[in-house]
Amino acid sequence: LDTRATGRLALTATSGRTAFDGGPDNPTAGFNQAYLGPTILMQNGELAAEVQNTLDEPISTHWHGLLVPGEHDGGPHLAIAPGATWQPEMTIAQDPATVWYHSHIHERTAGQVYFGLAGVIHVTDGQDDARGLPSTYGIDDLTLVLQDRRFDAAGRMVYDPSMMDIMHGFAGNRMLVNGQAGATAVVPEGIVRLRLLNGSNARVYTLFFDDTRPMHLVATDGGFLPAPVALDVLRLAPGERAEVLVDFSSGGAPVLMSDPGQAYGVLQFATDSALAARITRLPERLDGVLEDLTGAEVTTRQVSLDMGMGGMMMGGGSFAINGRPYDMRRIDFEVALGSVERWQIRSTMVAHPFHVHGVRFRVVTENGGPPRPENTGWKDTVLVPGDAEILARFDQPASRETPFMFHCHILEHEDAGMMGQFTVT
Ligand code: C2O
Ligand code: CU
Ligand code: CU
Repeated sequence: LDTRATGRLALTATSGRTAFDGGPDNPTAGFNQAYLGPTILMQNGELAAEVQNTLDEPISTHWHGLLVPGEHDGGPHLAIAPGATWQPEMTIAQDPATVWYHSHIHERTAGQVYFGLAGVIHVTDGQDDARGLPSTYGIDDLTLVLQDRRFDAAGRMVYDPSMMDIMHGFAGNRMLVNGQAGATAVVPEGIVRLRLLNGSNARVYTLFFDDTRPMHLVATDGGFLPAPVALDVLRLAPGERAEVLVDFSSGGAPVLMSDPGQAYGVLQFATDSALAARITRLPERLDGVLEDLTGAEVTTRQVSLDMGMGGMMMGGGSFAINGRPYDMRRIDFEVALGSVERWQIRSTMVAHPFHVHGVRFRVVTENGGPPRPENTGWKDTVLVPGDAEILARFDQPASRETPFMFHCHILEHEDAGMMGQFTVT
């Protein structure tokens, strides 16, 4: 699965067929393969990317978490027509992080991501040995894409959202990890790094190990923390990533679970003493630098994630931000390049995961208090339970032709209009 993109990156969106867990063949889509895309290893520097669309519908390729200008961001304004190729010439210049890519066509994002148009990117600087972090891909450094999918009685994967599914976001009845159901992750008897992506359309995971072993959070969406933070429970909303270290040195076969109270298995682990355990102790410190942006803001904006029941009853539903459903021709905010802004976000009806393109931000408050441990690092997506305040410096330019998006990452909400766009000039 590993694609090393040093200088060049070639992706081809294709249709395929995938049998999940021995069930019947399902029509799916992926980049360079039948379902999902390769994990891409990127380093800072110039990168000539090429995305070819062999599907019969428009797609785009949004680099969620890459800090690139609007013209390379792959949002809804950068559709790749069937048969066409998109060739952004990008400069990667950011801290190491686990980011991802997915299609982002307005009103089609949810279905396209559901059927497989998504993948993971590791931005790396090659210094993980010096950090004392596991970094052997697939051995002690596992990339785990968590997705719930809905299967019918015949074992076919279905996507047929009802009005209720759109309200709550489309939830599945089976867990897939990297496109597999019921798989076991075999790891060495040492410290193992898990790069977790919530690639689900709507489900929020509250992750914990059934034998209560802790997870040591080392990185959030936008990069490393200054030091590991031990967590018994890790909450991960759609679009969010977290890197955790887990100690398997005493063996065991724990299960990664979700949702205390109504727990279900996400992934079974097993240890194999024949696998080399390169890292046997947790690093005490990391080199993540969390800039304090407090007081640097020049503008404060309100962002209300609106969801109306009334419209729903009439069969329409109303999903909007600040009362206005997404409109590709309307610019909602104009941000000054290089400035810091405070955004005060408020959720209505349910907790919405809020994502902003083109920046990494700090969460300064959550429901009036300090942020949860998962939200203390650099973020680009944050679950807003009631309200939250974020601070960001907008360093990437975006024009009216290719503005940045801000939206709910419950993909059904996004497609229904809970999205806005902004320029940075
Ligand atoms: Cu992960 Cu606007 O997207
Ligand atoms: Cu994004
Ligand atoms: Cu939402």
